[in-house]
Amino acid sequence: MAMECFVIEGGQRLSGEVRIEGAKNAALPLLCCSLLTDDTVQLDNVSDHADIDNMLKLLGELGMGVERTPGRIRVTGTGNDTSEASYETVKKMRASISVLGPLVAKRGKAFVSLPGGCAFGDRPVDLHLRGLRALGAKIEMEGGYITVSADRLKGATIFLGGPNGSSVGATENVMCAATLAKGRTVIEGAACEPEVVDVARLLRSMGAKITGDGSPRIVIEGVDELSGASHSVMPDRIVAGTYAIAAAITNGQVVLHDFPYDSLLCALDRWNEIGVRIEKVNAADSDERCSVRVFSERFLRPTTITTQPHPGFPTDLQAQFMALLTQAQGNSIITEKIYTERFLHVAELARMGAQIQRNQNVCVITGRSPLSGAEVMASDLRASACLVLAGLAAEGETIVHRVYHLDRGYARMEQVLSRLGAKVQRVPAEHVREIAASRGPGHRLGLAASPFPQDEG
Ligand code: UD1
Repeated sequence: MAMECFVIEGGQRLSGEVRIEGAKNAALPLLCCSLLTDDTVQLDNVSDHADIDNMLKLLGELGMGVERTPGRIRVTGTGNDTSEASYETVKKMRASISVLGPLVAKRGKAFVSLPGGCAFGDRPVDLHLRGLRALGAKIEMEGGYITVSADRLKGATIFLGGPNGSSVGATENVMCAATLAKGRTVIEGAACEPEVVDVARLLRSMGAKITGDGSPRIVIEGVDELSGASHSVMPDRIVAGTYAIAAAITNGQVVLHDFPYDSLLCALDRWNEIGVRIEKVNAADSDERCSVRVFSERFLRPTTITTQPHPGFPTDLQAQFMALLTQAQGNSIITEKIYTERFLHVAELARMGAQIQRNQNVCVITGRSPLSGAEVMASDLRASACLVLAGLAAEGETIVHRVYHLDRGYARMEQVLSRLGAKVQRVPAEHVREIAASRGPGHRLGLAASPFPQDEG
């Protein structure tokens, strides 16, 4: 894999407009729904990045025919009913586990390697398996592979809560499987995330009988078969949140279109407390997708954040908020309750001048610390986004290595940010040394002043 970096010259105030892309975390399970029918499932508003490519490759291996045009993907069964997914494809993406439920429901068997995924902490799949077992599937594990089999799944009442709350992936997986089970399934302790609702919407258009999605109790009446359908993927709430922070951290003013307002209520509450204003441009717009103007008050205030299952604060925005809070005037506290090890960005932010103290799953961020450009290493998707945001606010040049992590969840982020006036370039890693050498020792490109007013006193 060609390693690429972002070279960011910080200090530019962002301005302009961005349309928020379709949600990766909805598109992945939505694509898996295609395994539940022989007809065509058409998805619109699909963003273009590496995880989607991987999922299409996986569906191809499972015998599905895929047609792709910009923003649109059509998946159709070809009559090839392979139930085996290779380690090569699955290891790149944890979301591969989402094929289990649909495969066993439609084909009676799934043979899938245990997935890989992000670098933070343990990410078990026990809830996925518990749910499928409750529907009557037989589960065997050997040599890193999971085999799930059943003649026909049977509806059941299943409690899907885990030690850290509900599971988004397990809820989607079991809900998909239950659509073709015999009889009624009740999922208690279901994840309430908006992506679960988006999956339920597509399944309903395919003929599934589902109620209660978006609440902790989902009821599914099994049907004998599902048909094709088309569906437009919901906008990505994490991408929306990331670009809102890009505007705020540079003290800029940006309009975001297709902003999923309703899905971000907890983050909106925190922004409001910090002093980041997010105002609807047209009061009449739907709260599901609207246009908002993002701008900041002159001084940002600190806050307290605890990540929780939806509608609580999303863990996928924790790292980005941490970058923002380094610029608030005072001490903020972030507690990570979903992935307690998800702090790979802390040490890198510290290298840029942030003052953060971590104790287990709690971080205290002392603001405001002026950030200065540094070479930093991206280690997972959202941590990478955090480092790019910090780079936008930092004085001087930041080099973020390994942006392939970022490409898993943001379509061409450097282009989006550049259109807003940021100075961000994607360069092959080997060129970074050349760039540095060509500038001579100690040289930094155009040191721009921090976009924030100097601290008082
Ligand atoms: C999804 C998102 C991910 C987000 C996460 C939490 C996708 C593709 N990814 O991941 O970006 O960070 O939700 O909002 O949608 N758990 C178990 N057993 C299981 C499954 C999960 O104990 O079988 C635990 C996890 O370790 C974690 C918590 O449950 O502590 C939530 O995980 P889960 O909601 O399953 O995350 P994903 O669906 O994998």
